[in-house]
Amino acid sequence: MSHVEVEHVTKQFGDVTAVDDVTFTAEEGEFVSLLGPSGCGKTTTLRMIAGLEMPTEGAIRIGGEDVTDRPAYEREIGMVFQHYALFPHKSVGENVGFPLKMRGVPAAERRERVAEVLERVRLPDVMDRSPEELSGGQQQRVALARALVFEPDVLLMDEPLSALDRVLREQMRVEVQRIQREFDITTIYVTHDQAEAFAMSDRVAVLDEGHLAQQGRPLDIYESPQTKFVANFIGESTTLSGTVADRDGKRLLETDAGVTFELPAAPGLADDRMTVYLRAEKLGISPDSSGATNEFPATIATTNYLGEKTQFFCTLADGTELVVAEQGFTALDAYDAGDTVYVTIDPADLVVARDPGQDESNTAVDESVA
Ligand SMILES: Nc1ncnc2c1ncn2[C@@H]1O[C@H](COP(=O)(O)OP(=O)(O)OP(=O)(O)O)[C@@H](O)[C@H]1O
Ligand SMILES: [Mg+2]
Repeated sequence: MSHVEVEHVTKQFGDVTAVDDVTFTAEEGEFVSLLGPSGCGKTTTLRMIAGLEMPTEGAIRIGGEDVTDRPAYEREIGMVFQHYALFPHKSVGENVGFPLKMRGVPAAERRERVAEVLERVRLPDVMDRSPEELSGGQQQRVALARALVFEPDVLLMDEPLSALDRVLREQMRVEVQRIQREFDITTIYVTHDQAEAFAMSDRVAVLDEGHLAQQGRPLDIYESPQTKFVANFIGESTTLSGTVADRDGKRLLETDAGVTFELPAAPGLADDRMTVYLRAEKLGISPDSSGATNEFPATIATTNYLGEKTQFFCTLADGTELVVAEQGFTALDAYDAGDTVYVTIDPADLVVARDPGQDESNTAVDESVA
């Protein structure tokens, strides 16, 4: 039994299906992220777990108990929102102590517990200050302290770092993770930022237009995306589909774009139609042909120097767009728009999956083979 179980949950707002038959779990003490682009149903899912929104269909269980019909105040859940939602006219101590006051904890004990939790989020000596005197990162620690002070079973966070600037956001990732580990609290964390989800989570659930596209460890999601949506949302990839052919003892994928790949020897590649996801950073680029396996020509369209990497946007003979990323500085001057280059990929780096077909909704495939 998992600690939090979201089972076949659907939420409809009139004609809009915000969440569509979503199932995922979080184990005791686990950090699970809900990851996906804007509007995919992350907040709605979180609000249903909190009891702030009722599912149209499906069930939510916490610690094995069905809480689907239980109101928010009867679920022991701490919540942190994007905009701290602190009371501006109350002191930090009153803010953090609020959930205890609601639960009838006497003032003296309240003060003690507030001081202790502020210590644990590394924010001592601010009890009597106004939240408005604190920085964004400090305010978010206050919000976290308020969510944790009553020792809830589960912590829910909705994009808690998105209002912070980049440097602070990256520092706070580490800090939120440290606090989560120290409190050993089952956590469900909403973000649209892949790096954030990967850096912090034990497991990630990727949402695509209200559907669960995939749940797994960051490594599994990166190495074996199960849908085109996941492959494209997690990092940059080019998707090429084609027909499998056996020739001279080799298994080949003849893609519709005209490029042929030698597939790794692996079971599960029996379908006639398959798809390869080419990770931008796994592709190599060179002005000359080396005759290597899985090498193909492309034409440079544009080059983007980004500091830590350079992106090369290329086109294949049939016009299909392809992106290659090289780490660090590469001799930019070596390529001009219109130049022919040779792109290679190690067969071991090919992510091969069943062809999702012409279906633009990217329905999940049952199996993928890396
Ligand atoms: N109260 C509501 N009434 C009507 N539609 C809603 C309501 N709440 C959410 N929606 C719709 O449901 C869908 C999912 O919204 P949700 O807020 O869960 O997305 P999200 O993944 O959190 O997006 P974001 O990253 O922008 O916060 C959207 O199409 C949204 O417009
Ligand atoms: Mg949201």
